[in-house]
Amino acid sequence: MSTEEREQQRYLQDRGEIPTHIAVIMDGNGRWAKSRGNPRIFGHKAGVDSVRDITEACAEVGVRHLTLYAFSTENWGRPKGEVSALMKLLVQSLRSETNKLHENNIRLSTIGDIYRLPPSCRKELEYAIERTSENSRMELCLALSYSGRWDIRQAVKMLAEKTQKGEIAPDEIDDEVISHHLSTSALPDPDLIIRTSGEFRMSNFLLWQAAYSELYITETFWPDFRRKELYHAIESYQDRDRRFGKVAVSKAQKEPTII
Ligand code: IPE
Ligand code: IPE
Ligand code: MG
Repeated sequence: MSTEEREQQRYLQDRGEIPTHIAVIMDGNGRWAKSRGNPRIFGHKAGVDSVRDITEACAEVGVRHLTLYAFSTENWGRPKGEVSALMKLLVQSLRSETNKLHENNIRLSTIGDIYRLPPSCRKELEYAIERTSENSRMELCLALSYSGRWDIRQAVKMLAEKTQKGEIAPDEIDDEVISHHLSTSALPDPDLIIRTSGEFRMSNFLLWQAAYSELYITETFWPDFRRKELYHAIESYQDRDRRFGKVAVSKAQKEPTII
């Protein structure tokens, strides 16, 4: 980390609250590659460098959970060649990056239907998760074969089974119970969701969990998204007024004034 980066981090920490949980829709790899006259996989490979940089920067600035949308349920519908290249890249990246994650005291986790992943990916993932399981500085959660609807569906099925067995009464199913049955049960809801490449949509990401997340959308393609822009996103987050449907309370007041 350069002196300038350290200063920027300190500036952000003094400036306001650092989001506890940042989630990122890493988009634009294909267009980034195309704009350079290269095949899409070239962009996915370049995207791994951004993953490394953003993971390190988040840990250094004090983010506690970083969730990266790496492969959606719908992405299974891409051409076979692209899907297998992405799976291979995942295996290679886990092999090359796990030591670094461990050295940086970062714990790896996943959300999603990982049983759909090829056995080689699952094996590498299980190894990396186990290896980093005691780490406490930050959690890096990879959303793989993930979609918000898949997540809600599996929670609904689990709750239906429990109700059928009489383990839970329908009346007891509240927001907290539902959150507890989602794949993100161990994660707080994301404070900030970043989407790269200028698309204004959720693409089936954390649908339930994003209820009150702040959104930051940038035109930058994922392979060009580096820590400078992450700092900018955090600065933008710090300027937001998170009301959660209530009335704004100024920092000097305890109760809102009704005018
Ligand atoms: C995001 O980049 C990576 C994945 C979805 C796996 P894309 O591959 O979607 O790139 P664009 O959006 O087509 O440019
Ligand atoms: C969202 O990007 C999924 C991931 C980043 C893994 P997509 O490229 O798949 O989404 P759409 O097609 O633009 O909605
Ligand atoms: Mg895309």
